[in-house]
Amino acid sequence: MSAEKKPRQTVLDWLDERVGIKPQLNELLYHRVPRSVNPLDFLGLATLFVFINQAVTGTLLAMFYQASSKTAYQSIQYIMTKVPLGWVIRDLHYWGANAMVVLVAAHMLRGFYVGAYKKPREITWITGVVLLFITILFAFTGYLLPWDQQSYWATMVGTWMPFYTPFLGIYIAYLARGGAYISGLTLTRFYAVHMLVLPALLLIFFGIHFAMVLKNQMLIVEEAEAKPKGTKGLVTFYPYTVFQMTMLVVVVAAILLFLALSFHAPLLAPADPLNKAHYTPVPLWFFYSIYQLLKYIPPALDPLGIIGLPLVAVIVLVGLPFFDKNPRREPRRRPFAMSAAGVIVVAVLGLTYLGAEQQGVSTSGGGTTATTVVAKPTFSADIEPIFQQHCAVCHGPTTKSGGLDLTSYASIASMKVATPTNYKQALLWQKIEGVAQPRMPLGGPYLSKSTIQTIANWIAEGAPDN
Ligand code: HEC
Repeated sequence: MSAEKKPRQTVLDWLDERVGIKPQLNELLYHRVPRSVNPLDFLGLATLFVFINQAVTGTLLAMFYQASSKTAYQSIQYIMTKVPLGWVIRDLHYWGANAMVVLVAAHMLRGFYVGAYKKPREITWITGVVLLFITILFAFTGYLLPWDQQSYWATMVGTWMPFYTPFLGIYIAYLARGGAYISGLTLTRFYAVHMLVLPALLLIFFGIHFAMVLKNQMLIVEEAEAKPKGTKGLVTFYPYTVFQMTMLVVVVAAILLFLALSFHAPLLAPADPLNKAHYTPVPLWFFYSIYQLLKYIPPALDPLGIIGLPLVAVIVLVGLPFFDKNPRREPRRRPFAMSAAGVIVVAVLGLTYLGAEQQGVSTSGGGTTATTVVAKPTFSADIEPIFQQHCAVCHGPTTKSGGLDLTSYASIASMKVATPTNYKQALLWQKIEGVAQPRMPLGGPYLSKSTIQTIANWIAEGAPDN
């Protein structure tokens, strides 16, 4: 094993004398690993590679991007049209971001499938779950930065979700937005988180994640070593695995480049907070499943779908190594864990697919809410359900925001929000049409034109309690 044979190793020798890295390096390069591996076992590496792509292209973009509501959009246009190869850089960053979310999720599913979350790899798993959420936050904060209609309204929808948190909702949402609605403050806030907070968090958690992988070695290696055949099917990490890894990186890079060159990152019209063009808000694609689910459940359960389910998901994911005490790793011997995960994956994929098909947040409301204009609406059949579905989270009998209880007719009448016969004078109409700011429901997604007209008709009738 003496390394003195080859003269070109002198640089390494020089370094080794000072730093003493040779033993570790040798151990790393020449440790025994299985000869043939499943490419799925390299998803972590693929994710890391895409992250490096994000860091490099992100740094390049930051040299031209100007984070303010006045300049953000133009600077993206400038990057796409004037900066040499700027559009490729932006497309690579855009596709890299989507790829990161997919790869991290796939990497996690693979880890689940092979049982890599079990002892002694619990910390690897938990830091991995944290990294998944960091990745989602990266995508979410980055989405706002182009400051076009799509990013503005997706952020509106996304920062709308915390409103459903009991008690704290309004504070969390205001904190995320830097106020009641999306403004230049939200943009600089998201930019700071995207550029400073998240990279730091990611490096910390990835450091722990990776250190734990090195310490406990990869599961496939452990399993190969444990086989009765002994070290027969094993090769050295260098050059075998290093070659396989290089091939994988080349393939991932080729796919990214292909996507970036063929499908361009969208840039719609500049963000318009008044939404005069009636752009339909669309959530980010990884929220599709949640929004699709909301279309099937009664509005009263919305908080459960928006806050409850994701919370349960976090608890289950983080706690998985502790809930699942079955020491077996083979998928066949874990029928319960496998079928539960199977049902969840199919449900999420199915809902995401349906959500993608019927894009757009249901702003007209399903079920009881009017989807066509009701000419002579009654309070109990037409108006109350709208308030229940779109307003009650903040304007319920116990919620204090706005001080207005929209679930009781007496409260609406006493506040005189809806009584003028010229409906345009009614505060209620002005608030839902956006004539009076902040527009209601606070932060959107706003009511559809037909729903607004139905409420207007009701006010024009004298806002009767019928
Ligand atoms: C996310 C929470 C939230 C939702 C949902 C919401 N509101 Fe509000 N609403 C508020 C807050 C906060 C205020 C006080 C805003 C202000 O003026 O600063 C308010 C104020 C109002 C006011 C003015 C009342 C007053 O006395 O100033 C009206 C009218 C109103 N909302 C109607 C609605 C209607 C109608 C809906 C449903 C279509 C709705 N709101 C949904 C939070 C909400």
